Amino acid sequence: MKRIGLMLLMLTMLVNPFILKAQISDELNIHPDLIPLLDKNMAPFYHGVASGDPTENSVVLWTKVTLNKNISFIPIEWQIAEDPDFKKPIGKGITSTSNEQDFTVKIDITDLEENTKYYYRFMLPGDTSIVGQTLTLPKDPTEFTMAFASCSNYEWGYFNNYRFIAEDPEVDLVVHLGDYIYEYAPNVYGDTSIGRVNVPAREITTLDDYRTRHSLYALDRDLIKLHQMKPMITTWDDHEIANNGYVDGAQNHQTNEGNWQTRKNAGKQAYYEWLPIRDNSYHELYRSFKLGTLLELVILDTRIAGRTKQVDSESDAGYNDSARTILGKDQYSWLMNKLTDKTTRWKIIGNQVPFGPMYQPDMKGSSDKYMDGWDGYPFERKKLIKAIARLKIKNVVWLTGDYHCSFALENDIDGTVTTDDNVSVEFVVTSITSANDDEWLSLDSAKTGRQYYLDFNPHCKYVNNIDNGYVVVKVENTQITTHFYYAETVREPSQIKRKEKTFIVMDGKPVLIPQD
Ligand SMILES: [Fe+2]
Repeated sequence: MKRIGLMLLMLTMLVNPFILKAQISDELNIHPDLIPLLDKNMAPFYHGVASGDPTENSVVLWTKVTLNKNISFIPIEWQIAEDPDFKKPIGKGITSTSNEQDFTVKIDITDLEENTKYYYRFMLPGDTSIVGQTLTLPKDPTEFTMAFASCSNYEWGYFNNYRFIAEDPEVDLVVHLGDYIYEYAPNVYGDTSIGRVNVPAREITTLDDYRTRHSLYALDRDLIKLHQMKPMITTWDDHEIANNGYVDGAQNHQTNEGNWQTRKNAGKQAYYEWLPIRDNSYHELYRSFKLGTLLELVILDTRIAGRTKQVDSESDAGYNDSARTILGKDQYSWLMNKLTDKTTRWKIIGNQVPFGPMYQPDMKGSSDKYMDGWDGYPFERKKLIKAIARLKIKNVVWLTGDYHCSFALENDIDGTVTTDDNVSVEFVVTSITSANDDEWLSLDSAKTGRQYYLDFNPHCKYVNNIDNGYVVVKVENTQITTHFYYAETVREPSQIKRKEKTFIVMDGKPVLIPQD
């Protein structure tokens, strides 16, 4: 993104001092179906602000500008300060945006202090964005608290869980594990009777479509609040592009929907534009964040960095093929480098699909493994488990999304109840809103299903397949503590949440210790 001088900003104003003022009308550069969602008090920064990918001395700041359709280039001022009133400013500058990046603005602020709260805003002549707050990572913490979330489908519910995370003073950082948006047409996967309807009104396949869908989600008031209050690290799962995606295709991509690589690139481009991710030269989303000697947060892309096509079942001829991979060769080597780094105590892995094993009950008394998860790639999964055991890698903790149920699992090769073969533990976070089992089954059947999960998975210590929520993880030298939280409902806006379950994992022992 180019930095340009204040002079250009002034010049733009002189050319047409009124064109920059944003009135809500069909002249705005936004999909017409989104106009009713705009809050005029936020003009022209209707989508709020966001921060992400914090390090000890830097953070990415983000906003989006919505002005008249005729404007194709916009210079914008940014400011950052130590206080919300900007009486102690520490930096400002001019950047710009254009239709090339869908009028999103991203700036990587450097030379910051570690473990420091900062306030930031964006300005155009006569207009100022809401003030965001963010936090740089600590250099050598003794404790750190993160919230994990995944699967926030707009049509399935209100983002009450996002607001709960935004309001939790203990949370230093939010990690989104994917399915931040969903690609479907209205009413295909959702319940529009609650009044939340997808825009555009079709399955998204083009760059314009993906940008519009992100715009819809980013106008959600609870999501705006979350981004305003907390820095976020994000990774995609499948629905940011299409269901059950892999490098060369997706279950929900058909030949009449155009070229897959073109569609994939459109989804990726819109994702990078609309989220506060640090752009990098190699354009891989997998990356890591080190917090002193306490922990390394390792963020995976199990979707489109290297994944080969899923098979249908364990009886498929290709199931055990050693060439099949969920990470790809480069990401696997990169992950092993991270895991064998002895300078941090905890390896917290932000992961999309269950590492497992995870047997799924079919409600008729039998079960099968989940082919879209790590279980669908048994050669690579086993290889990784054996490497963790052989190299005596301690304190590996998987934080996983995708599945729309909460689980607490101990990871071994075959899911035995014994703990001496555990190599790691795994917390699967349920969805922010996406359908759980009780959206497909009666409540009683879903409860029966919950028991089946426990029966088929003796290494699984906890299941909630009914509620929508998030997970908060506190990392300390001696232990990690994980809390499972749930909204009372996502069918309507609600302020009621509950903490249902807590686990502790002690330093050096991959065993789940329930606390209640
Ligand atoms: Fe999902």
